[in-house]
Amino acid sequence: MKEKILVTGGTGYIGSHTTVELLAAGYDVVIIDNLSNSNIGVLDGIEAIAGQRPEFVEGDCTDIETLHRLFKEHPGITGIINFAASKAVGESIHKPLLYYRNNLMSVCNLLELMPQYGVKGFVFSSSCTVYGEPDKNPIDETAPIKPATSPYGNTKQIAEEIISDYVHSGAPIKSILLRYFNPIGAHPTALIGELPVGVPQNLVPYLTQTAAGIRQELTVFGDDYNTPDGSCIRDYIDVNDLAKAHVVAMDRILHRPDTDSVEVFNLGTGRGLSVLELIRAFEAATGVKVPHKIGPRREGDIEKIWADPAKANNVLGWKAEAPIEDTMRHAWAWQCHLKETNA
Ligand code: NAD
Ligand code: UFG
Repeated sequence: MKEKILVTGGTGYIGSHTTVELLAAGYDVVIIDNLSNSNIGVLDGIEAIAGQRPEFVEGDCTDIETLHRLFKEHPGITGIINFAASKAVGESIHKPLLYYRNNLMSVCNLLELMPQYGVKGFVFSSSCTVYGEPDKNPIDETAPIKPATSPYGNTKQIAEEIISDYVHSGAPIKSILLRYFNPIGAHPTALIGELPVGVPQNLVPYLTQTAAGIRQELTVFGDDYNTPDGSCIRDYIDVNDLAKAHVVAMDRILHRPDTDSVEVFNLGTGRGLSVLELIRAFEAATGVKVPHKIGPRREGDIEKIWADPAKANNVLGWKAEAPIEDTMRHAWAWQCHLKETNA
């Protein structure tokens, strides 16, 4: 019989790509999403790619009764991948309680119910934001956790601690904490991708909307950083590679009794790209120009960070593979798809 995984936030950006990979790997998937930052049409995209439709529960992970009902109506779930969270850094500064309540209550509720319903594994979406401004790059998992610079970032740090404390208290579960660097791109079919609401805050959706003429000009936030071309450096990871890491992590939790009960992995490429390099990579890959100008620094930005992914490469046996040109082409195809479908 197929194993059944609960994907919270599964109609969202990373959750939808991960659902596709889980289905391809032979898992059954139940999604719970409250559609606060995604829409139901994503299920059609998943079905068109995967050839099967995941089960879907519209509901909120902060509501424990909804979760009880879900586990009763979908018996046999063995693992949870928890994407459900609010993720806008700026908004979290203005609405901290929304972030603490949504992101942390979801985690507490799910953890609490796991032993009761026989769920063994919990994979958590964390972020390289927990490292703050690194003392050195590339950064590995032993680097110190720095004070969070936003309530959003703080929810990731606190959630990591909650999960770790709960597992170490003797709860009969295992967990893998995945610290993502900067996920970008879309599925190669252009049937699923990132759906930014309103004006995008993140670089790639802003860039593709500018290339599409929806935005007039991309502003590069600062060119006076201590980097070779003066713009900030990040480790941009293809969302399809990222999705595959979740399947490997879930396999490991469920099928490897010899592993530690809580493990942490960086998910990045190991290569840092500046904002200007990324713009050039997009233009080279697509042949489409991106009008841009240099603007002031954005408050709170980290100057440079990229991953040492050796632990994920060696222990998980996972490696980011997509060339940046392919990722850029897929991001562009997705933007064109959105335009064609007026989404
Ligand atoms: P997303 O907003 O596209 O997906 C999150 C999904 O969760 C959405 O579909 C939303 O409707 C749903 N959701 C939110 N709160 C919920 C709740 N209480 N109950 C049920 N559903 C709920 O975001 P994403 O980019 O796919 O990110 C997924 C996870 O990865 C998040 O936890 C995010 O913090 C983390 N993460 C994202 C990035 C990034 O740059 N995208 C980087 C590091 C970590
Ligand atoms: N940038 C611009 N112009 C823009 C948007 C972004 O120059 O219009 C620059 C930023 O200054 C930064 C880089 O592009 O140097 C990347 O910015 P993003 O906003 O795309 O990503 P961040 O690294 O700031 O943050 C993202 C998520 C966080 C998450 C973090 C690490 O927004 O939630 O990656 O995973 F914590």
